[in-house]
Amino acid sequence: MNTNGFSPGLAGVVAAQTRLSRVNGQIGELIIAGFPVEELASQATYEEVVYLLWHDRLPTAQEKDDFQHALAKWRTLPPFVLTLLKEVAQRSETAVMDALHLATSTIHVDVPTAYHAQALIARLPTIVASYWRLVQGKDPIAPNNNLRHAANFLYMLSGEEPSESQTRALETYLNTVVDHGLNASTFAGRVIVATESDMVSAITGAIGALKGPLHGGAPGPALDMVFEIGAVEKAETYLRAKLDKGERLMGFGHRVYKVRDPRAEILSAAAEKLFANDGDLALYELAKGVEETAVSLLAEYKPGRNLQTNVEFYTALLLHGLGLDSDLFTPTFACGRVAGWIAHCQEQQAVSRIIRPLSQYTGETNRQWQPIHTR
Ligand code: ACO
Repeated sequence: MNTNGFSPGLAGVVAAQTRLSRVNGQIGELIIAGFPVEELASQATYEEVVYLLWHDRLPTAQEKDDFQHALAKWRTLPPFVLTLLKEVAQRSETAVMDALHLATSTIHVDVPTAYHAQALIARLPTIVASYWRLVQGKDPIAPNNNLRHAANFLYMLSGEEPSESQTRALETYLNTVVDHGLNASTFAGRVIVATESDMVSAITGAIGALKGPLHGGAPGPALDMVFEIGAVEKAETYLRAKLDKGERLMGFGHRVYKVRDPRAEILSAAAEKLFANDGDLALYELAKGVEETAVSLLAEYKPGRNLQTNVEFYTALLLHGLGLDSDLFTPTFACGRVAGWIAHCQEQQAVSRIIRPLSQYTGETNRQWQPIHTR
């Protein structure tokens, strides 16, 4: 912070109070609604985590079933949204995140306000899967309401019911990224509802913020890097060349974490399990080798910066192992984070205070108006 109170990127500024998650970047700790993320992510269903964030306690068995049922009811997209997605898929090369942004805003049209939160959770995966299939020239697959949230997403993408190990892997991912303090997209959402605008507008704004490569848009490039390297012994030459050119290594560094992101640990373990059951363990070993080399080179090139593996590196590997194309990585991140966005919006609505920081003027003063013919 400078002497005028200006903090670039709002670094170090505490702008909200929350019971949803606590991030300690110095020791690499993430608490989600009281639970260490390691304990919650690999055991809970996604529906249980959503319930936890929204009610501040775990559901009973009956509440869990009822909640799963209530959410599933909103999965189906109305025909006008499917038509819209079809038109967009045919007309342009619109990215999945942009289609998600567009179709999410339609929830205003046919869902009563009281159900916006549930419909947002339920519909985001349907929008992503439907649009993805349309872009591939395939028909969308209607949701299967007998499947859990994560399993149904995989089903709507491929048309095949996933194995329990695949469902568990996606649930672990969605739970791991469900909330993360006042990250950029969450902040964007809170700023929007703080004006007493509505939840759907806030989530649409949050999706826009998540799209950027400095936030949620890095896993695709992180995986491309692993594929381009191809063999562990080539990692050093490849990564040095990037760093010599001043490029950033995608999947490394974090504004808050100065040690290894705990989510990287969870997703690395989940990827190892998934690849051992349903995939290519050699790719996992390659990624591990690339990670090790990258971290040691970042320490050499950027001493004192503590650049470590972030969540996106193993996100890419895990989602790839689930058969997802890299264009689906950030939209899938949105499908997980949406529960946290909504919970933050609910907290912000309870505070009922507009977020309105100050700016420091750096422009000219004392200008005098000149009529157009004299300029
Ligand atoms: N590779 C190489 N150098 C890096 C990297 C990286 N991945 N990350 C930071 N640096 C360097 C910067 O060049 C800078 O060096 P300098 O001081 O010599 O100029 C220094 O480290 C500090 O960088 P900042 O941009 O100030 O760090 P900040 O905390 O603002 O940025 C960020 C964090 C944006 C995530 C950054 O580390 C980055 O760009 N990483 C790559 C992209 C990525 O992985 N994004 C996903 C983030 S995870 C998430 O949001 C869910």
